[in-house]
Amino acid sequence: MPLLAIIGGSGLSKLGIMEVTQRKVARTPYGEPSGALTLGRIRGRAVAFLARHGYGHTIAPHEVNYRANLWALKDAGADSVVSVASVGGIRKDTWPGQLLLPHQVIDYTWGRSSTYFEGVGLPVNHIDFTEPYSRELRRQLLAAAKDCGEMLVDGAVYAATQGPRLESAAEIERLERDGADVVGMTGMPEASLAREISLEYATIAVVANYAAGRGDSQRAVPLDKIGEVLDEAMGRVRRIIEKLCEG
Ligand code: HPA
Repeated sequence: MPLLAIIGGSGLSKLGIMEVTQRKVARTPYGEPSGALTLGRIRGRAVAFLARHGYGHTIAPHEVNYRANLWALKDAGADSVVSVASVGGIRKDTWPGQLLLPHQVIDYTWGRSSTYFEGVGLPVNHIDFTEPYSRELRRQLLAAAKDCGEMLVDGAVYAATQGPRLESAAEIERLERDGADVVGMTGMPEASLAREISLEYATIAVVANYAAGRGDSQRAVPLDKIGEVLDEAMGRVRRIIEKLCEG
């Protein structure tokens, strides 16, 4: 089976469930990835893990070298990527700790290096992005979640904001009017870059907090609570990933 790549976000800078065989410092034409790739196996399946924000969580969402990260994973032999990303919950029925599997994305980011298809003399190239997330990988993740009895909500519109600041309450209202269910800072250009280099890509979105102006974030997002929420939720994410690897 081809290599499965896992990109861990906030709260998931190491997997713990992996038999590590190698750490590989990768160089790419686009510069350095967020850190060395951790190569090994989960339940017998070959896996490459990369912490999106670096192993010491020092790289801000707008500073992540998304091009180098995906290129390095592809170069290591990956054909698919499961990304784990923490988000704020916008939709009324989302709550901190919930896991969702987005099916659509809206990109509000700016100024990020967001394509491989640029440079002098290269032909203009367009990808189809009607369905930004891999149908097949989403199906496999849903099946894995079901098999291990973990709740994973099928479908959400992910709004990718620039960060690193959180949103104002009015911005969240606007995102909701736009049709967004959850908001995060790293979903783009990761998803479209993956498509550009033919990596199957899906995201497990972990609700870390109610988005600004919602739930207990009426007056302020309680940042001090997020760590605990993510710690607990990542246990469930790990179980889903283990099940996915079991096949
Ligand atoms: N907004 C944007 N990104 C996030 C949030 C949020 O409320 N929570 C976790 N990532």
